[in-house]
Order: sequence, then structure tokens, then C-alpha cells
Amino acid sequence: MTEPTGAAEFSGKKVLISGGLGFIGSTLAHRLAAHGARLTLVDSLVPEYGGNLFNIAGIEDHVRVNISDVRDEHSLRFLVQGEDYLFNLAGQTSHLDSMRDPFTDLEINCHAQLSILETCRKYNPAIQVVFASTRQMYGKPDYLPVNEKHLLRPVDVNGINKMAGEWYHILYNNVYGIRACALRLSNTYGPRMRVKDARQTFLGVWLRLVAQGQPFEVWEGHQLRDFTYVEDAVDALVQCALSEKAAGQIYNLGGERPYSLYEVAQLLKEVNGGGNFTVKTFPPEAKRIDIGDYYCDWGLLHKAVGWEPRVHLREGLARTLDYYRKNLALYL
Ligand SMILES: NC(=O)c1ccc[n+]([C@@H]2O[C@H](COP(=O)([O-])OP(=O)(O)OC[C@H]3O[C@@H](n4cnc5c(N)ncnc54)[C@H](O)[C@@H]3O)[C@@H](O)[C@H]2O)c1
Repeated sequence: MTEPTGAAEFSGKKVLISGGLGFIGSTLAHRLAAHGARLTLVDSLVPEYGGNLFNIAGIEDHVRVNISDVRDEHSLRFLVQGEDYLFNLAGQTSHLDSMRDPFTDLEINCHAQLSILETCRKYNPAIQVVFASTRQMYGKPDYLPVNEKHLLRPVDVNGINKMAGEWYHILYNNVYGIRACALRLSNTYGPRMRVKDARQTFLGVWLRLVAQGQPFEVWEGHQLRDFTYVEDAVDALVQCALSEKAAGQIYNLGGERPYSLYEVAQLLKEVNGGGNFTVKTFPPEAKRIDIGDYYCDWGLLHKAVGWEPRVHLREGLARTLDYYRKNLALYL
């Protein structure tokens, strides 16, 4: 696999990754460590989230790990100083948890985001920030593919708080000149994802059960979704950080094409060389906040930085399954 242009430009740069022990943050850390970045990973390692020390196996000696919470302004004040880049990925990711415990989601995905940006404004206004946003804020699409002009109409508390977090970044870019941009991620999957439960995505549970030789459940199955392999998501994060044009912008991130969940389930069976799933109706609690069909138009990102997905779903699922066949015990 060829590296996207630009990652070498991080050599010697000081890079802070919030949520750096999580799925996407740690994959980014592996990429940047390989290019000689001076990395600090800040992560709270709250057990319900995707942080895992095993995610940095192999690069432990190349990163500085700070176990702290982004809600702690004092830690952040110390951590942002002198950094060239902040990849702001720490977040509460579960949609259902945001409904059951809306105030924790508010604190992490909204309040803490404003406080991170205030800290940057006061102590390091030259820092460059890339924020991991989400497609969840579009809610149930009015049209497909969804572009960035689509109305924002979140269907859950998580979508509302992530929306506020995203717009604080754009505001601080526009008003205070702190260069920041946001990527609206869709279903991201790959090695190091959380597979213990569906807090990150249903696909995590499917992958775990398949790796354990057990049947999995598909709810309805006709819904369309786009999927981004994690290395492709890392390409986008890196390319946005290095692009002058990206400052103040919001971009969708998607996959090579939409798939129905039924198709994904079949594909997973195929790459595994067997397996079983049952099709069920949605549990009511999940149905209430379901967004129906979703896939996005990522043309704006392509135009701005040349991004396109390089790893298609079949290949990405095969790589991910291979990883969990070897390492599952460390993720249970
Ligand atoms: N994975 C996806 O499909 C997806 C989709 C849309 C958006 N995103 C966004 O991407 C970002 C990264 O997600 P991920 O999939 O890697 O999830 P993840 O749970 O693996 O990573 C998030 C990390 O943030 C850490 N964290 C959470 N709250 C924290 C806090 N208060 N202080 C410090 N650390 C904290 C967690 O411990 C975890 O390691 C999140 O902001 C998420 O909203 C992910």
C-alpha cells in the first residue's frame, strides 16, 4: 500500500492526539510514529470507551502517553503548549449511551471541546487542529448521497453535542484564527476497533462473533451504509492537517460505495469462509434513533486534498478479521 503524500512532513513535528489510545487515534499514532513525529497521546481509558493500551503495541517507545481526561482543563493547559498539531479525537461514541446518560455526552463532546479550544486560544494559538466529527448530526437523510449542505437534524443527544463540538472548532478558526477543520466520519472499521460491544458500531460485535465462530444478528438488513477502512480515515486526517485549504472547512468522509447491511453480513461470511447470521427486527430503543439509509458524497474532500478510499470493504473486512483472529483476547 502506498502512503498518501505528506505523512513524511510530520517528521520532527510535535503532535498531540486526544483519544490517542482509541481505535482511530492509535492507528493515526502508528502512521505518524513511522514518519518520525514526536507524539503525545492523551486518553482517559474509561472502560466503556475504545481506549486500549494494546493499541500502541510496537510504538510504546515512540510515544508519550498521558492518562488524563480532556474534561480536565489543567491537564490540557499543560498538554497543548508547544504542540504543532492537535488531532482531536477523544469522544463518547455511543448513540444509545448518549440517550441513557446525556450529561456525560454533553461534558465530553460539547463542554470539553470548547474548553480545549479555549486552552489553545490562550496557550497555543499557532496550533493546527483536526476534529473527528460524525455523520450522525445529519439525522435521517432527506436525500442521498448526503453532501455537506444537507440540513443538520440530529436524532440523538450524541449528534447534537458532536455538532456543537464541530462548530466550536469552525468558530475558533474563523474568529480567532486557530486553524481547525472537521471530518464527518461515517462507519469506520478496522484493526483496533472496539469489538466488546456495539458502542462504536454494530460491525464490531459482528466481527467478534464471527471470530469466535458464533452466529450474529442483523437488524432488518436493507439499510444502506458507507464504510471507511481505518487507514483511509487516517489518510484523510493527515491530508487535512497538511492542507492550507482545509482550515475552517467541514468534509464528509465515506466509502467506495453504499452497501446494505445484509450485503455486509454476506461479505463477512464469505471472507471468513463460513458463518451464520439471523435477520431480526430492531429493538425499540435502537429503532427510535435509527437514521435509516445513509451514504455520503465525499467529493468536496476529494477536490480539496485528493482523498479517496483505497481499501474496499471486502479487503478491509478480511484484514480486520485476521487481526482479531490473532488478538481477540486483548479486546474482550
Ligand atoms: N468509529 C467510528 O465509526 C466513528 C464515526 C464517527 C465519528 N467518530 C469519532 O471519531 C473519534 C474517535 O473515535 P473511535 O472510533 O476511535 O472511538 P474510540 O472510543 O476507540 O476512541 C475514543 C478515545 O477517546 C477516549 N476518551 C473518551 N472520552 C475521553 C475523555 N473525556 N478524555 C480523554 N480521553 C477520552 C477513549 O478512552 C477512547 O480511547 C470520536 O470522537 C468519534 O466520535 C468515530
